[in-house]
Amino acid sequence: MTKIAVLTSGGDAPGLNACIRAVVRAGHYYNLQVIGIKRGFKGLIEKEFVSLKPRDVSMIINRGGTFLLSAREERFHHYEYRKVAVENLRKEGIDALFVIGGNGSFQGANLLVKEFDFPVIGIPKTIDNDTYGTDYTIGFDTAVNNAVDAIDKIRDTSVSHERVFVVEVMGRKSGFIALAAGIASGADVTLIPEYPFPMHVIVDSILQARKRGKRFSIVVVAEGVASGKEIAEILSEKLKPYDFGGVRYSVLGYIQRGGTPTVYDRIIASRFGVFAVEEYINGKKNIMVALENGKVVSKPLEVSFGKVKKPDLSDFELNNILTL
Ligand code: F6P
Repeated sequence: MTKIAVLTSGGDAPGLNACIRAVVRAGHYYNLQVIGIKRGFKGLIEKEFVSLKPRDVSMIINRGGTFLLSAREERFHHYEYRKVAVENLRKEGIDALFVIGGNGSFQGANLLVKEFDFPVIGIPKTIDNDTYGTDYTIGFDTAVNNAVDAIDKIRDTSVSHERVFVVEVMGRKSGFIALAAGIASGADVTLIPEYPFPMHVIVDSILQARKRGKRFSIVVVAEGVASGKEIAEILSEKLKPYDFGGVRYSVLGYIQRGGTPTVYDRIIASRFGVFAVEEYINGKKNIMVALENGKVVSKPLEVSFGKVKKPDLSDFELNNILTL
């Protein structure tokens, strides 16, 4: 009987459990045996393997995090540990590895293909949505909703005290979360690394808003631009001559990554998981699953590396128009 293994690697993202569930259930639907690997590549090296049956993934579709646990495993950068990992997979009679991960995890997994000819299927997840080759990664929608929920609350204080608020959101080097959260929360200024603009423009736009009668301002900053603290300090200095209720900042941090996955994340995670198994059954390997123009497709795993995925410039411009 064909045996597949599934693991989650890198930072957790809401929807991972829904995706594991989909891989396990689709696997059994198509008569495959499914093994879960705990703690990502760490568990691959240390052989933390568990058998997964359809009932083992009951009641997890609505849970954040990953019940298989995750890790960022430094040892996987070294050939000798990757060799151990593949030996473990082969000893267990596993025919293919399903990696639910982001850019870094896909690059690591691809080395198993290149060095040992071990079949790998990648399923993209990361709250940052920065994996090249797919329009969407599992977890992004929930993270943005979490950020918008928080900004909506911060706005209450911002309005009541007529303050400028700087809200730092996650995204590593990318601005997808910031841009989406900025649009959806009606932020006055959204700072993302992909389309930078100078500080005087930000100050100017806050001052213009005041002139138009707006007594509070929300600035969303992607962590890849600067910290919320740094931006708040600069703004505080520049806005000193004006009558403001002060500048404050909030770092949303890990609350963005946790909690119940949205319906969208559950559905995408389910589609990705089932499609990944079906592609494997149809003879495809060393591929990644992707969302392209609303359709789930597959493409070579390598497509995802070396290229930088950028948010749409039109969304960035839209945000600027809406802040008038
Ligand atoms: O990639 C997801 C992410 O949450 C980024 O937005 C953030 O920069 C990073 O992970 C934090 O990583 P860690 O979990 O190692 O603190």
